[in-house]
Amino acid sequence: MRNRKISFTVNNEKVTLHVRPYETLLETLRERLLLTGAKEACGLGSCGACTVIVNRKPVRSCLILTLEVEDAIIETIEGLKKNGNLHPLQKAFMEKGAVQCGFCTPGMIMTAKSLLDRNSRPNRSEIIEAISSNLCRCTGYKKIIEAVEDVCSKE
Ligand code: FES
Ligand code: FES
Repeated sequence: MRNRKISFTVNNEKVTLHVRPYETLLETLRERLLLTGAKEACGLGSCGACTVIVNRKPVRSCLILTLEVEDAIIETIEGLKKNGNLHPLQKAFMEKGAVQCGFCTPGMIMTAKSLLDRNSRPNRSEIIEAISSNLCRCTGYKKIIEAVEDVCSKE
């Protein structure tokens, strides 16, 4: 298989690239577009550190091929800040102490954002369910859940 030229949108900017047949979206984002917020941890779809939003759904970017996102709308953690202001989820994670080493944080926030895009008032169970496959070794999840609840209470 040969490289193919495709276009998609990342954080409101159109991108056109020649992509390799087996290039993952995570590789494209990190190595070619230098958007290093999405992290590579397991590389196997198990941890959620690489989560970005594709067409309004949270996606593990280590598992999806870039060829599959032709014409898609992609959001990454780098696109959340608007006019110099952090996204409410970013602020809440900082204020609630939901960040320790920070390795899981971009993926966790993108998963939470995708939930809030679909449901601006999720209850605690819905928040827990949404983030349940994003692994965090540091925080014990309590402060992460509280941070998401904090944003909901201010919506
Ligand atoms: S790096 Fe993609 S799920 Fe772990
Ligand atoms: S803050 Fe370290 S893995 Fe979540």
